[in-house]
Amino acid sequence: MSYQQQADHAKQQPEQFWLEQAQQLAWYSPPEQALSQDEHGNYRWFKGGSMNTAYLALDYHCENGRAEQTALIYDSPVAEQKQQFTYAQLRDEVSSTAGMLAAQGVTKGDRVVLYMPMIPQAAIAMLACARLGAIHSVVFGGFAAQELAVRIDDAQPKVILTASCGLEGAKVINYMPMVSLALEQSQQMTTPVLVWQRPQQAVEFNQQYLDWQALQQQAEPADCVPVDATDPLYILYTSGTTGKPKGVVRDNGGHAVAMNYSMQAVYNVKPGDVFWAASDVGWVVGHSYIVYAPLIYGCTTILYEGKPVRTPDAGAFWRVASEHKVKVLFAAPTAFRAIKKRDPDGALVKDYDLSQLQDIFMAGERLDPPTLEWTINKTDKPVTDHWWQTETGWAIAGNPLGLERMPVKAGSATKALPGYQVTILDEMGDECGPMAQGFIAIKLPLPPGCLPTVWGDQARFESAYLKQFPGYYVSGDGGYIDEDDYLFVMGRIDDVINVAGHRLSTGEMEEVVGAHPAVAECAVIGSHDDLKGQVPFGLVVLKDGVQQSEQEVSKELVQKVRNEIGPLACFKQAIIVQRLPKTRSGKILRRTLRQLADGEEYAIPSTIDDPASLGEIEELMRQGRTMI
Ligand code: COA
Ligand code: AMP
Repeated sequence: MSYQQQADHAKQQPEQFWLEQAQQLAWYSPPEQALSQDEHGNYRWFKGGSMNTAYLALDYHCENGRAEQTALIYDSPVAEQKQQFTYAQLRDEVSSTAGMLAAQGVTKGDRVVLYMPMIPQAAIAMLACARLGAIHSVVFGGFAAQELAVRIDDAQPKVILTASCGLEGAKVINYMPMVSLALEQSQQMTTPVLVWQRPQQAVEFNQQYLDWQALQQQAEPADCVPVDATDPLYILYTSGTTGKPKGVVRDNGGHAVAMNYSMQAVYNVKPGDVFWAASDVGWVVGHSYIVYAPLIYGCTTILYEGKPVRTPDAGAFWRVASEHKVKVLFAAPTAFRAIKKRDPDGALVKDYDLSQLQDIFMAGERLDPPTLEWTINKTDKPVTDHWWQTETGWAIAGNPLGLERMPVKAGSATKALPGYQVTILDEMGDECGPMAQGFIAIKLPLPPGCLPTVWGDQARFESAYLKQFPGYYVSGDGGYIDEDDYLFVMGRIDDVINVAGHRLSTGEMEEVVGAHPAVAECAVIGSHDDLKGQVPFGLVVLKDGVQQSEQEVSKELVQKVRNEIGPLACFKQAIIVQRLPKTRSGKILRRTLRQLADGEEYAIPSTIDDPASLGEIEELMRQGRTMI
């Protein structure tokens, strides 16, 4: 079927379309109905279907001829280690890890928080939770203790799984102080912590901090526990506009169906192929395309613990792709910009045999046309942009290579994928015509795999996504659709910024900066960065009578954001100003500030309260008065 035929089928007969997709999976008892609504009116997929995601990802393949196929390749230039697991070996590791969790009292519906580096145990632990019907919540290792604490507090886990350290290039990040501080801050002082001891960092075990390796060895393997399709598989927290991250809920059934469908329709791979998402298990890309989709579909997945550059050089991606015969490579544009910066002529590409590499996919931020062109030119491979979010779990728009390869338009993620009815709305909620910019919205119901609600906060689900335009999910991105139905995503229209493909909230940074005793008020905006896409930039008004120097305050602010949000926030620039530019009703003129920070032309808004405030900031920026 062509793209258009599938898109029409999914739109006109969603029940039939998605039940057909569901039939590709091995249910314990298949769903009779595709779509239903729960007591809140939320759409739910495949209610009544009984299944287990870890069974689909592992046991099913072991029973159907893939037991000896490599399921997972761990490649770590930073730990100088490589390891491979067949499907049978991975299933055994997962079932003994599940047994270890069961021995700690973890059962169906319990939450387990994972704070893990990119080691195989991260994926194994996720699948072990799925095996028991427990709900995992992975927290990215670059987040500081406070962020971990907020997530622990919200998810209320029965057990926390972690490792003794992460490896960031040459740095060894000791996780123990962060975990214990997070437990203290979240008042979960007695939650057991199972620690995977890595050779780079020793841990002192005690009654609370337990030896994962030893416990797993003693554990009885645990079998798969049947769950309903609508039972949650995981919670993944993502930045919103406030300081409190939203717990995106992913269900089991819709997710498995969407993962399986996307591997074929979007990525155009076959079971047995090697698929590499060069992301981190702490992000949605890692959940979907390092762990679940490749395994559910019977591929070999790669878990890479390293960077695109410096581990050891800008040829790292090409080395991994060539050594493991990768068919599809998926990474964020920022990774390719980092490679391009270090190896502008692509000299290192030529050192490796990339003949097995069929396609490169990019997502996580806007794919700027120069990066698209550079990657195509240097690798001689097709590059496909696709747009998606933590909330959806898989691409909303893309070039569905498994259905047909549509012409690429630089700057566009191509077309809405089958199942998604993407539309552009104006401020009043009316649909815009071609080329008109507005809010990118998706007509309800969202297809399988997308979030059914926010963990423990139905009201937030409604207020964040559904209230603004009844009948639609609001993505938070702005953009337009051209005459050929190509979607152009132009960026966030809320307080979310994208730093090196990591989604962060400027509102949250403002809360941290604003809590410094010397700060009267502040604004944090995202300003353009050639490598990372955007980086945060702070404008700070000090309280009268502050004795500290401006440099001292700036330094403390940078450290404060690092300590409370994490180094990944890259908050390294702030200026002290006399006042913030605001409208007469008191709203900070963020758009104008962004334009100023990026050196763009700007018009002084007619609603501005004090035009001199803008002049002062412009002058400071002209003088290069950025505090570091
Ligand atoms: N644990 C602990 N610290 C981490 C971390 C982790 N998992 N990940 C990042 N950090 C730290 C880094 O060490 C760095 O700290 P520093 O300020 O002390 O140097 C800081 O957070 C910023 O990290 P990063 O954004 O990775 O910057 P970088 O300069 O080290 O690398 C890139 C730049 C472009 C190579 C890197 O950002 C990258 O690989 N980006 C791709 C991101 C990606 O795949 N996103 C997934 C979305 S699909
Ligand atoms: P996350 O939830 O971390 O995956 O971030 C989702 C956000 O990243 C989206 O709302 C977009 O702002 C941005 N994004 C992801 N993929 C793309 C893309 N292909 N083009 C433009 N923006 C993207």
